Amino acid sequence: MADSPLVWWRRQGLRFRLTVAAAAVLALALALSASVLLSVLDRALIDTVDESTRHQAQTVRVAADAGTLTSPITTHDGTIVQVIAADGRITHVTYGADRLVPLLDERAREKVLGEGTATFLDGRPYAIPGPLRVVVLRADRGQTVVAARPVGEIQTSLGTAGRVLLVGTPALIVLLAVASWLMIGRTLRPITALRRGAADITHTARSRRLPVPQSRDEVHSLATTLNDMLARLEEAEQRQRALVSDAAHELRSPLASIRLQLEVALGHPDGQDWPDTAEGVLEDTMRLSRLAEDLLALARLDERGGVPARREPVDLDDVVRQTVERYGEARLTVCDPVLVRGDALDLSRVLTNLMDNAVRHTASKVEVALTADGVLTVTDDGPGIPEHDRERVFNRFTRLDSGRSRDEGGAGLGLAIVRETVRAHGGTVCLEDASPGLRAVVRLPVSR
Ligand SMILES: Nc1ncnc2c1ncn2[C@@H]1O[C@H](COP(=O)(O)OP(=O)(O)OP(=O)(O)O)[C@@H](O)[C@H]1O
Ligand SMILES: [Mg+2]
Repeated sequence: MADSPLVWWRRQGLRFRLTVAAAAVLALALALSASVLLSVLDRALIDTVDESTRHQAQTVRVAADAGTLTSPITTHDGTIVQVIAADGRITHVTYGADRLVPLLDERAREKVLGEGTATFLDGRPYAIPGPLRVVVLRADRGQTVVAARPVGEIQTSLGTAGRVLLVGTPALIVLLAVASWLMIGRTLRPITALRRGAADITHTARSRRLPVPQSRDEVHSLATTLNDMLARLEEAEQRQRALVSDAAHELRSPLASIRLQLEVALGHPDGQDWPDTAEGVLEDTMRLSRLAEDLLALARLDERGGVPARREPVDLDDVVRQTVERYGEARLTVCDPVLVRGDALDLSRVLTNLMDNAVRHTASKVEVALTADGVLTVTDDGPGIPEHDRERVFNRFTRLDSGRSRDEGGAGLGLAIVRETVRAHGGTVCLEDASPGLRAVVRLPVSR
């Protein structure tokens, strides 16, 4: 099926459409102004002719009234005059004018007189080429003055002007179309360069930035915005790649350990302490499953894009009390009733991660406090974290060297999960110096 003209038009390139639209608008404007110009010119020229013809007729009438008409009547601008007596006879004429047949018969004369304006008359029956403008005036003693002026020349001039416009206008339109085509092409060149740059990125993955034009215009800001976006995407991709490689790295050591234990055991099955082997393998398997769970938790947080899984009213004090109960060495100092909106399971995981860290690093005690304004603190008296590392430890897979050397150390995902969960709940988390030790401070918005 053939496309409708509208669909065809939409399929054309921007350059073509802009050029055609500009040319069409110009053509319309020029045609309109040419026709207005010609008609105004025509009107003005005819008015001038009418006025001077009437002037001549009046001069003749004055002479006729005074009885001083000469024969032939003299006029200076080629006006043809006939003076017709009351009985219809032509008494006086200008040189060369018809003495027998009046230009207008009596009925026509009366009509023109009644209207008070000049009228057109075909000159050919009177051997005058082209049309005439005729003015009729009434003089004394029933005489009528008929004055006529050929206007063929005016019409020839107007015709010439019309022909010039007819040829000139299309030429002007073609000129403008060519100029628009070139100018639009030049304007679109940076966009073409952007497109080529984008294609380059897609095909070669070599250059990761689009060419930015020198001009400070819309295309320039588009290119910079797109480049910013590309930089962010690249950053996200790098983060993702680092995450995958870190995760693979973390998976490798428990898997290698399991493999080694099993290989050793199978190599010497007789003297092997199987329950011991199973215990070792189980420990590594637990590490693996914790890692998988943490990765899954982070993936879910990423997926939700900063929104908690649920938004239910949660009695945070209950969650805190139940969690702290599971840790023998932890003490709950303050526990005001606090109501927050969110996911109870995720919030308890926040506290669990903080307490795991505190218990792992503390020297003697861990103190947990929850105040009525939604501030939850977990304080230990361990080695603490140097100030310049206190932000860094929130990154995924970030463990400090001391943490790395410990056997019981995790993968470095605990604090990352804490930060993202707290953020999803609209809160903040930071680490402070508890001298000695570390204090983790979580601030959650309280719902009333
Ligand atoms: N209470 C603390 N005292 C001293 N250092 C800490 C404390 N909490 C965390 N850290 C340091 O911050 C690092 C990151 O902590 P995070 O909880 O993110 O990971 P992790 O505990 O090592 O592993 P995971 O929590 O995944 O089992 C730890 O490796 C440790 O070096
Ligand atoms: Mg931890």
